[in-house]
Amino acid sequence: MKKKLLSAILSMTMVAALLAGCGSTAADTAEPAAAEEEAAPAEEEAPAAEEEAAPADDAAEDTAAEETAAPSEGLKVGVSMPTKDLQRWNQDGANMEKELTEAGYEVDLQYASNDVQTQLSQVENMISSGCNVLVIAAIEGSSLGEALDMAKESAIPVIAYDRLLMDSDAVSYYATFDNYMVGTVQGTYVKDTLDLDNAEGPFNIEFTAGDPGDNNAGYFFNGAMDVLKPYIDEGKLNVVSGQKTFEEVATPTWATETAQSRAENILSSFYADGTNVDVWLCSNDSTALGVENALAANYNGSYPIITGQDCDIENTKNMIAGKQSMSVFKDTRTLASQVVKMVGQILKDETVDVNDTETYNNNVITVPSYLCEPVFADANNYKEILIDSGYYTEDQLK
Ligand code: BGC
Repeated sequence: MKKKLLSAILSMTMVAALLAGCGSTAADTAEPAAAEEEAAPAEEEAPAAEEEAAPADDAAEDTAAEETAAPSEGLKVGVSMPTKDLQRWNQDGANMEKELTEAGYEVDLQYASNDVQTQLSQVENMISSGCNVLVIAAIEGSSLGEALDMAKESAIPVIAYDRLLMDSDAVSYYATFDNYMVGTVQGTYVKDTLDLDNAEGPFNIEFTAGDPGDNNAGYFFNGAMDVLKPYIDEGKLNVVSGQKTFEEVATPTWATETAQSRAENILSSFYADGTNVDVWLCSNDSTALGVENALAANYNGSYPIITGQDCDIENTKNMIAGKQSMSVFKDTRTLASQVVKMVGQILKDETVDVNDTETYNNNVITVPSYLCEPVFADANNYKEILIDSGYYTEDQLK
């Protein structure tokens, strides 16, 4: 009953947030006044990229349209994505390409097969082939230093996309979802579903986190841990494997197979005697999938609460089938629109829309950031947030 009520409240809040969109959630985020002041005039002065794009398709429409379309003409944007292996980056890349093209830019979109050297040379090529702005979702935040130096020498602005670029002063802006909030949404879901403040417990829990080379992974893990640690400390949550530091539970490159084999080891070492695992806190969907595969083949106890992030198709199907409890939806269309808007503002020398100027320090500078708001998803609200919004068709989830 309580679970249903919580779900309903979360769904309503989250759907409201989703409908409100990325732009308006910025105002809800408590950020320094300066950042908001900075952001406001930009919104008024700079028409959104989509608005500019529409008239460009029909150049004869009116003179004003021609004038607004002109600035993107002949300009090229390099978009560097980490891998096609994980679903979300295919969507991110496709959305970026579509929106940038509609806004009149030439686009150089590259995927780096999760290989750092490949990404490095792809970005260097983008610079030498004359890209005017770079948008980079790094495989490893701190491995693109040489390319970033090159961009800086050529005065090419760089936007870090979803993952922060580390250890460099050549990063102009960062656009992402509120990564810490992703973790707190996951942790709070576990806390509320188990009713940790009132239930006697103890409950058994395991953790699976993300890639240590991805700056986001620590934010996700810490967000969840900050909610759950008090219950671990008081003994209400029991980490049976004893593995509870980020280093112990991390998953290099977020690989499903790696998460799966670690989960298999844990299940055979600590749960083969019939001990139940009540919760498996997973930082995202690709790792949750590994844990779900491991449970399917190696576990007969009562099925645990499993968290995730991204609402990947396989995981959404698993949510519908009761094999994953929730996910955190990060609408890649929202992020792409925001980044395309930033690209336009940068190239037109306008104030760039940011809503956080404090959180994301990359060890050299604090990068002005735009944080979109992540949205809670589960089997009760997925239709509204994923199908009604046009993100997936019903057929894709069958
Ligand atoms: C993204 C997540 C994604 C993960 C693996 C992170 O940087 O923020 O949305 O699940 O990478 O691709």
